[in-house]
Amino acid sequence: MQRAKCIRGTFVHSEHLGRLEILLDYLLVTDSSGVITHFAPGQSPESQIILQKSPDCVSLPNGTFIVPNFVDLHLHAAQFLYQGNGLHLPLMEWLNEYAFKAEERLDGDPALARTVYTRLARRLIHSGTGTVLLFGTIKEETNLILAEVMQAAGLRAFVGKLSMDISSRPSYKESSTETSLKAAHSFVEKCRHLTSNLPIHERLVEPVLTPRFVPTCSDELLVGLGQLSAVEQLKIQSHLAEALDQVEWVRKERGVEDIEVFDRSGLLTPRTIQAHCTFLEVPALQHVNSRGTAIAHCPLSNSYFSAEPFHLREALDEGVKVGLGTDIAGGYSLDLMTSMRQAVSVSRMRQGSNQIAGKEGKSLAIDWKESLYLATRGGATALGLTTGVFDLRVPFDARQIRLFDESTGHGIGALDFFDLEESGTAAASSPVTIEMVEKWWCLGDTRNQSRMWVQGAELDASPLN
Ligand code: GUN
Ligand code: FE
Repeated sequence: MQRAKCIRGTFVHSEHLGRLEILLDYLLVTDSSGVITHFAPGQSPESQIILQKSPDCVSLPNGTFIVPNFVDLHLHAAQFLYQGNGLHLPLMEWLNEYAFKAEERLDGDPALARTVYTRLARRLIHSGTGTVLLFGTIKEETNLILAEVMQAAGLRAFVGKLSMDISSRPSYKESSTETSLKAAHSFVEKCRHLTSNLPIHERLVEPVLTPRFVPTCSDELLVGLGQLSAVEQLKIQSHLAEALDQVEWVRKERGVEDIEVFDRSGLLTPRTIQAHCTFLEVPALQHVNSRGTAIAHCPLSNSYFSAEPFHLREALDEGVKVGLGTDIAGGYSLDLMTSMRQAVSVSRMRQGSNQIAGKEGKSLAIDWKESLYLATRGGATALGLTTGVFDLRVPFDARQIRLFDESTGHGIGALDFFDLEESGTAAASSPVTIEMVEKWWCLGDTRNQSRMWVQGAELDASPLN
């Protein structure tokens, strides 16, 4: 696969929360392993030398920019099967009625699993998600299909075989704690083996230990997974303090908060990503931060299941690593654009409630630029990746956004007009501005994406029907 690239044009990224950079006329070069080796203004002497030696360097047309790929920090791959159904139920009932059934169905039908996962991969690419942290199902074979499909699609994927030795659905659980621990270990080895004969830069999938959540895992299983993670330096993902019925279940059955159960099991580590955390107040967020654990914020799913909005601003102020997740199918939208917009909306409503209550102090609202950081660099940081930013020695994981149709000069998709003063045509030939990027954030959709790369390799981002 051809990974070496030379691209001149506009690049948009956010390396730090709240700081968005629009880099007009930059030159980016990658090597044959898809890593950025040059990134500087196109007019700089070094860039000019490169340009003289590289006649096939591509210049992007006006009205386009390159932005880092989205990182979806929380998605249940098998639940893609029934995305968009059943959200009238509270979490614990919904899991029993929908989630467990769908996952069990895929575990019993490898051909269906392959079909669902292949479609999921296409849909992720189409939506601009280049890195994804996945919950799979219980059965090893189904998770290996998931890993294989993601690797073949060229997506950077972290794949979690579920660990569950307790379940409300007797047919959907592992037969004992010991079986569950052995299966977790075995999946890690087999998933690693899938890519072990490839050069390191081509290895895109990685196994992740995945105790589903406290209600489906015995203390013994959790402790065993904590030890396995420490020995093998494995990433861990789970759900923490998500919903009222779940939080109450843990209090009643275990007599403590689930954060305590995870902590005493060695599962709050710098390699851990916990979804939701909606019920965590500042002291608990400080504790999460002290462990180096990251949080996957899934605002759409929270609106249905959580009863409490995530304390996002407080988490960010405490320095917690935060990224965004879709939580398919607890959230119905696969597009991280929806997560960004929901994150901003929810935070603004929190701020409004504070204002009405007469509370003073720093605003709880985040703005669109901060949400773009969370959807890109924030998610990458949570996963310990260097991506999400354009810089030397960083893999080129990015996509190209088109704002205008080059032949007509009109905005693409829902982006009709760009400027109060000018017609769409005039704006099409002018440099990308912050207002244009803001419009894309508000109104853009899959029609605005033209190309996508992971580790410098171009993926098939053609439209889906
Ligand atoms: N908690 C445990 N399992 C799940 C799941 O599949 N989805 C959500 N949203 N929460 C969970
Ligand atoms: Fe979830």
